[in-house]
Amino acid sequence: MRKMIPINAPQIDEREIEMVTKVLKSGFLTSRVGSSSRVASFEQDYARFVEAKHAVAVNSGTAALHMTLSAAGVMPSDEVILPSFTFVATAEAVALCGAKPVFVDITPQTYNIDLEKFRKAISDKTKAVIPVDLYGLPADMQTISKIAKEHNLAVIEDAAQAHGASYRGKPPGYFADMACWSFYASKNMTTGEGGMITTNNDEYADALRCMRTHGEKGEYVSYMLGHNYRMPEIAAAMGLAQLEKLPTFLEKRRRNAQRLTEKLSRVERLTLPMEPRGYKHSWYLYTVRLQGSDRAERDKAVEELRKRGVGATVYYGTPIHLMPYYRQFAQYSLPEAEKASEQVFSLPVHPGVTLQEINYIAASLIEVVR
Ligand SMILES: Cc1ncc(COP(=O)(O)O)c(C=O)c1O
Repeated sequence: MRKMIPINAPQIDEREIEMVTKVLKSGFLTSRVGSSSRVASFEQDYARFVEAKHAVAVNSGTAALHMTLSAAGVMPSDEVILPSFTFVATAEAVALCGAKPVFVDITPQTYNIDLEKFRKAISDKTKAVIPVDLYGLPADMQTISKIAKEHNLAVIEDAAQAHGASYRGKPPGYFADMACWSFYASKNMTTGEGGMITTNNDEYADALRCMRTHGEKGEYVSYMLGHNYRMPEIAAAMGLAQLEKLPTFLEKRRRNAQRLTEKLSRVERLTLPMEPRGYKHSWYLYTVRLQGSDRAERDKAVEELRKRGVGATVYYGTPIHLMPYYRQFAQYSLPEAEKASEQVFSLPVHPGVTLQEINYIAASLIEVVR
């Protein structure tokens, strides 16, 4: 049988090994203050990369989401609006604050939050909105921020999948109060586990730095409710190496995505991912829709691809409002999110995929769909 082409794979070489080894040999693995030397360098470089004033490194994208909601003052009894069609961490962070996630539907072409549905979901209790840049395609952040301003809502952009994306020429986070990033092993760049928050707001940045290390500012005194959400030095060393290589990773993802689009554009049953004018996709996931299919037919197509060694994967098979834990917050139907969860699947475009493999992936899909 053919070796599986995985949906994503960390791109690690001697550079990461060398930088991580240096940390191990130094004997300095972390700092209680939160920003030890490599962490501080990684924050500086990342802030520069996304044109943000501040970057605060943490130990996961989930931690980033939880902390930003806390920093925005989200309390129990508040409501936070988010799309249902995303990774569960987006909603989890809201629930961890004791607040109520209010799920809204998506636009079927982009899979991102539907702006009209967002507007309609705003209530007296709404405190924040979390637009997600799903699969690496930015949400319509300028419009979202405008609506949010009218209603005094904090905008927390979930950019966990969007390293290297842009919108109206600006990186994710530019139109938000805070942006949350993930460096999980599958992401466009990785630290194994890890995350980052970027913001232009000094007060948020100060609160986040304090909160990430038990609400302390150096001495053993807590000024606010905190966590241990610190990034260790080993992760930051990896992050520095990965950030150097990110432009090359992104180019390869884009090249692979473009080639897939060329090869698949005439397959009638498939709706291919779009990159609207003014948007730059990060190509974290190349997600297609099997038009008119139901769940069983889509799952069968994915199974057939996997049999051929193509690591096709469904993101996400269950919208969050239908998950057993989250049903307590939602007794409503979100037709576009539900339909997408039955029809989409993603194909490998990560930097380790060769053009020859891309040709094979396209040919396999054409065969399966036929
Ligand atoms: C959209 C989205 N939000 C949040 C997260 C959470 O990030 P992490 O896995 O680093 O906690 C992820 C990634 O896993 C994600 O894809």
